[in-house]
Amino acid sequence: MLPDRGTPHVFITGVAGFIGSALAQHLLGAGFKVSGLDNFSYGSREQVQNLLKYPEFQFFEADLEAFTFPRGCKPDAIVHLASLKIPRYGNALNTLQHNTAGVERVCQWSLEHQAHLLFTSTSDVYGLSTVIPFHEESPTAIGNPAVPRWSYALSKLYGEHLIHALAEAKGLRFTIARLFGTYGPGQRYDWWGGPQGVFLRLAAAGETLEVHGDGQQTRCFIYISDTVKALQLLLEHPAAKGQIVNVGAFPDEEISMLNLAKMLWTSIRPNEEARIKLVPYSQFGRYEDVQRRVPDLQKISAMGFLPEVRLNEGLMRLRDYYLSTR
Ligand SMILES: NC(=O)c1ccc[n+]([C@@H]2O[C@H](COP(=O)([O-])OP(=O)(O)OC[C@H]3O[C@@H](n4cnc5c(N)ncnc54)[C@H](O)[C@@H]3O)[C@@H](O)[C@H]2O)c1
Repeated sequence: MLPDRGTPHVFITGVAGFIGSALAQHLLGAGFKVSGLDNFSYGSREQVQNLLKYPEFQFFEADLEAFTFPRGCKPDAIVHLASLKIPRYGNALNTLQHNTAGVERVCQWSLEHQAHLLFTSTSDVYGLSTVIPFHEESPTAIGNPAVPRWSYALSKLYGEHLIHALAEAKGLRFTIARLFGTYGPGQRYDWWGGPQGVFLRLAAAGETLEVHGDGQQTRCFIYISDTVKALQLLLEHPAAKGQIVNVGAFPDEEISMLNLAKMLWTSIRPNEEARIKLVPYSQFGRYEDVQRRVPDLQKISAMGFLPEVRLNEGLMRLRDYYLSTR
């Protein structure tokens, strides 16, 4: 946990990314000192320029596997966000190697600096589990290793296991946040950033939205400002220490991908029928999708967190942001 006295210092890996830059902005606004690194493989230089306006922000352009902390840089907590995401089109080896090496390195820093580690895992670790909603104690059900997309979930699960093992063996202090799909201003408009950005971009261009499978698979998306508030809470709340905690949206906001595509099309082109094409999974090689992904929020709710931005409101905010900045 963070110290009771003085200005808390949080170090963020992947600070130029979607969640990293929003978290940095949020913590700086709340009076924290923030430092962080990014190699710009997916991050935004513009976001870092915005953060550099704060005197309490320090940035290192570096790959986390090569980075060493400069003398005097002693964070109270490290938030580990830098990682590769689901390799839809096959990049399993990179995902496994990069994510496992990354979490190993960050654990080592946390031990060296006696810094609390907040590791961002993913709802994807619940895999094909059909125990709905997903509770932190639910079994994980990672799919077939011949399907490359599971390399992401597996690499995150490895991180969760490693952290628990190091806590037991060496006293590592940690919290694990299992993030559900986050969206909002700052997300990329390609599949790396998630479906909202892709659907908005294509709808704005009048192009057909491609929805995978039969489109009936469901998700519970959480707005970016809610995600970063939850991460701050997990840095500060004593009950989060040593815990795995879901960070997601209201279960009553569960939405199918087909309906998400329709909503975003209509938000841009209200008087036109949505142009949507269902794309079979076979187009991605061998793929297994999660049919329902719904978080159980009891644990984080008991710490005082409730998401504030409803899906419709959040999507309209993202649409307005997209239209005003494209
Ligand atoms: N966005 C979501 O909906 C979501 C859902 C579940 C989990 N997560 C997890 O949250 C974290 C952040 O997600 P995001 O959406 O902000 O992703 P992102 O890709 O926007 O941000 C990750 C950042 O890390 C940087 N990075 C990657 N590898 C690096 C390395 N070796 N050295 C230095 N920098 C490196 C990238 O350049 C990027 O800026 C990830 O770990 C992801 O697995 C995100």
